[in-house]
Amino acid sequence: MAAVTNTFESVKATILSAHESTTSVEKVNFYNSWAENYDQDVAVLDYRAPSLAANSISSHFSSDREAAVVLDVACGTGLVAKQMKRHGFGHFMGIDGSEAMLKLARESGLYQDLKQSMLGEGPLPVQWGLFDVVVIVGALSIGQVPVGVVRELCKSTKPGGYICMTTRSNRDNVEYKAALEHELKQMEDEGLWTCVEVAEVEDWERAVSQQEDGYIAGAVYLYKKLKL
Ligand SMILES: C[S@@+](CC[C@H](N)C(=O)[O-])C[C@H]1O[C@@H](n2cnc3c(N)ncnc32)[C@H](O)[C@@H]1O
Repeated sequence: MAAVTNTFESVKATILSAHESTTSVEKVNFYNSWAENYDQDVAVLDYRAPSLAANSISSHFSSDREAAVVLDVACGTGLVAKQMKRHGFGHFMGIDGSEAMLKLARESGLYQDLKQSMLGEGPLPVQWGLFDVVVIVGALSIGQVPVGVVRELCKSTKPGGYICMTTRSNRDNVEYKAALEHELKQMEDEGLWTCVEVAEVEDWERAVSQQEDGYIAGAVYLYKKLKL
């Protein structure tokens, strides 16, 4: 593992520079430039979302984990698959918009298949109803993946399979989080899935904005796709 060389202040400056990216293409370009330092920088931020999501899935998934096929959406460098592997999952497909993040995911050797795709610009490039688990961590937030993509996550999941999502609960993401929760509830009312667990976590990751200090909060949502 690479030594952690970046300081909290330098990581904070990197992340604040991403706020200048207004379009999703600019945001993905930001990740292209950040990819090489991403793992060590998020360790400085005490970023625990991948392990929190993997724990949530693991505590409810009762079928054969070795046989299960997992779709990791906005997979980045592969931190979610790394955590899920610790819980016995072994088959991963990843999707991300950033070629540089995908290159590192490829080098991790954790994924059977990886695809470059801009989320929110068309249907997910996967077969519907194929995956035992669909997971998206660290990407459902303002300026990244549009809320509407959660319908695609549900479509890709097998009936009876799980969908795990995370978002931030801090100030700049309040409106996005409300829109996300509205969509999750709407889909439950439509009979597409049922809510298994929502965990609000106080010490989600270290705050980087000028208005916040200490840790910001975040949330993990686990849904089960209803059998058709
Ligand atoms: C914070 S990283 C999270 C990566 C990984 N899931 C993790 O938890 O470490 C966000 C990822 O989402 C991807 N991303 C953000 N917006 C996207 C979009 N609209 N389409 C495709 N990928 C996107 C970025 O390229 C980046 O790899």
